[in-house]
Amino acid sequence: MERLRVIGGASLRGSVHVSGAKNSALKLMAATLLAEGASTLHDVPAITDVDYMGELLTRLGAHVSRADGTITVDVPEKLAHEAPYELVRRLRASICVLGPLLARCGAADVALPGGDAIGSRGLDMHIAGLQRLGAEVNVEHGFVVARAPHGLKGAMIGLDFPSVGATENILMAAVLAEGETVIDNVAREPEIADICHMLRDMGAQIEGIGTSTLYVHGVESLRPTEHVTVPDRIVTGTWAVAAAMTRGDITVTNGRAEHLELVLDKLSTAGAVVEPGPDGLRVAMSGRPRAIDVVTLPYPGFPTDLQPMVVALNAVAQGTAMITENVYEARFMFVNELARLGAEVRIDGHHAVVRGREKLSGAPVVATDIRAGAGLVLAGLVAEGETLVSAVHHIDRGYPDFVGQLSRLGADVTREPDPDRFDN
Ligand code: EPU
Repeated sequence: MERLRVIGGASLRGSVHVSGAKNSALKLMAATLLAEGASTLHDVPAITDVDYMGELLTRLGAHVSRADGTITVDVPEKLAHEAPYELVRRLRASICVLGPLLARCGAADVALPGGDAIGSRGLDMHIAGLQRLGAEVNVEHGFVVARAPHGLKGAMIGLDFPSVGATENILMAAVLAEGETVIDNVAREPEIADICHMLRDMGAQIEGIGTSTLYVHGVESLRPTEHVTVPDRIVTGTWAVAAAMTRGDITVTNGRAEHLELVLDKLSTAGAVVEPGPDGLRVAMSGRPRAIDVVTLPYPGFPTDLQPMVVALNAVAQGTAMITENVYEARFMFVNELARLGAEVRIDGHHAVVRGREKLSGAPVVATDIRAGAGLVLAGLVAEGETLVSAVHHIDRGYPDFVGQLSRLGADVTREPDPDRFDN
């Protein structure tokens, strides 16, 4: 186990490059299973979740090779169809092999990922959607067991909520189903458009990309492809908030302002200068940020994955902010850790009232998930003295070279063994 030692006080300044999105790359890797042969993905981030997905694809029979940001997945004609618990528990996103395996093999046994530190994460919409495509799907002995021995058939599917994972699983099954599928109320995150474009390049017929309704005309088979992952808007947003919080000036290259409209709008309201450019964006702040109210919602709403960072920003802002979390019931859990740094936050159901203070004060804290970890590091940057963030492996799941990038921007952050923690 390792931890980060953050010494507060620096204003982050300089330029930082953002690579491809975790939440796209993992799904693009799963999508390669849909075609026999070697697909190549570029700008895949160097994070542990990508390592785990590589292991899972290998277990399913693919040959995975990696050099810098490029991954090649060579998929055999016949795949194994079981994703075992010991791999799925490390990576919830492994559930996205369900749709591709069912479409390719007519069978998929994927271990149930279970709950995690941001709340229970249901699969009812994934299951109902695949059943509408004609699969028999049951939950047995801790596995989702899906069968479609005679293939899948196109159907009309309406999601109760624009779930990212359910949209992806149903889409990846539908592209090889017989006939037309219409999926309504789909997630519109840029990562969904990214996978749609890749599937199209593989020969899938998909209309409505970027809208709430996807129209899929099933095809018999797909071909391998080469694809560049969409840049990570959550990492971009993390740097944008970091610039505003630390009264710094950061240029994020490869960051796409158009994927963060609401976030950048909020940062402008907080007093930041926001300048979108041709190859990224710049965020600068000279004084103390003003408090900003935020309501998390599916895209294009404010992303839940940036909620911890914005709570941290409000903890040192001028004024009081109300943050409403609509996506994960337990995502305010990390607030108890933030309170250890002196943040004044009151939780009432899915609302948090944050009263800004001039300064936080360093203390030992624990990262409970990727984004909570990043939020706590940002808080440590504006805390007096030393903040020790333990369970740093959570941050490694989503932020490539976080410490290196922070250091190059002027932060005093080091990584060290954690003598106090041996558990997960
Ligand atoms: N939900 C259900 N039933 C379903 C599907 C979802 O109840 O069948 C609920 C979940 O329990 C959750 C909400 O709907 O409360 C949102 O779930 P969604 O399916 O949209 O999210 P996801 O696919 O599980 C992805 C990202 C998350 C991100 C969310 C929302 C990946 C690997 N994960 O999760 O990213 O927060 O979309 O944008 O793509 C992260 O990167 O830190 C992270 C948690």
